[in-house]
Amino acid sequence: MKRLEGKVAIVTGGATGIGEAICKKFAAEGAKIVVAGLPDDPVDEVVNEISKLGGAAVAFKGNVGEFKTAKDCVAQAVKEYGKLDILINNAGVFVETNELTDYSEESYFYMIENNITTTFMMSKAALPELQKTKGNIVAAGSEAGVLGIPQNVAYGGTKAFIIAFIKGLAAEQAAYGVRCNIVGPGPIDTAWTHKETGPMNGKMEKLNMQATLMGRRGTPEEVANVYLFLASDEASYVTGALYMVDGGITIAKGPAGDQADKSFKSEPEGDIKLQHEFEGHTSIH
Ligand SMILES: NC(=O)c1ccc[n+]([C@@H]2O[C@H](COP(=O)([O-])OP(=O)(O)OC[C@H]3O[C@@H](n4cnc5c(N)ncnc54)[C@H](O)[C@@H]3O)[C@@H](O)[C@H]2O)c1
Repeated sequence: MKRLEGKVAIVTGGATGIGEAICKKFAAEGAKIVVAGLPDDPVDEVVNEISKLGGAAVAFKGNVGEFKTAKDCVAQAVKEYGKLDILINNAGVFVETNELTDYSEESYFYMIENNITTTFMMSKAALPELQKTKGNIVAAGSEAGVLGIPQNVAYGGTKAFIIAFIKGLAAEQAAYGVRCNIVGPGPIDTAWTHKETGPMNGKMEKLNMQATLMGRRGTPEEVANVYLFLASDEASYVTGALYMVDGGITIAKGPAGDQADKSFKSEPEGDIKLQHEFEGHTSIH
């Protein structure tokens, strides 16, 4: 039996990048999908591609950061497929890299709207249906929501919000049998992490990969695999969890020291001189 047989899922930001991979992975595992994206997103293409492979999907276009649109999206799932089991809050934006002194207020508000408000509105709109099916929510966090990220500090803040929001929701909604979890991707091979197609410059792109233990980006499919597990009944005892899919970036030290100015690199003299050092006693032989 397929891992999502009989399930109905909404995937926000479902037409590109990680969202596209989630839609295709879930459809291949038997779920019926509402592919939700902004009006200019290639939502219809993804629906057609899924249909051609024998899967079931419908398109929903609109800004799910607005509550009325979020409710319409949930209503479409129920109208088309009779219920809702899974909400994937994947929509998000990553628009600018700049130190805070130069970071635009416009980008800040745009991120609040598309990263935070989308998650709030969709979760609020979907819960009445998810409570009926004892369904679940999986949301897009980020390593940036755990570690912070320089030159896009507000982005890290939006992802930290999502982590705390979903953990709180897990505690609140457990009484209704609804599970809520977060996936925390590291640098993933979508438009965002390439200097040609996203706001990162070449230096940031390189640093990002060096900072992972694996020395590479993850693929959208590698992230979708974890969404699949958390959204499926295999994760029936998992709620309030943050699953990192980050090539180890959150435990790696990274090469940040290489970036420090030479003048910061010499150790200070200080006043205390150690008289006792533990030398030569660590061997068990
Ligand atoms: N790519 C990475 O390295 C990375 C790392 C950590 C976390 N993430 C998270 O993963 C998610 C997907 O990122 P991606 O790299 O695939 O980017 P992406 O730009 O390909 O996908 C995001 C999608 O969300 C859609 N969207 C944005 N605002 C929306 C709204 N208000 N209503 C409906 N749709 C909306 C966009 O149009 C886009 O299709 C994001 O939440 C992102 O923060 C990505």
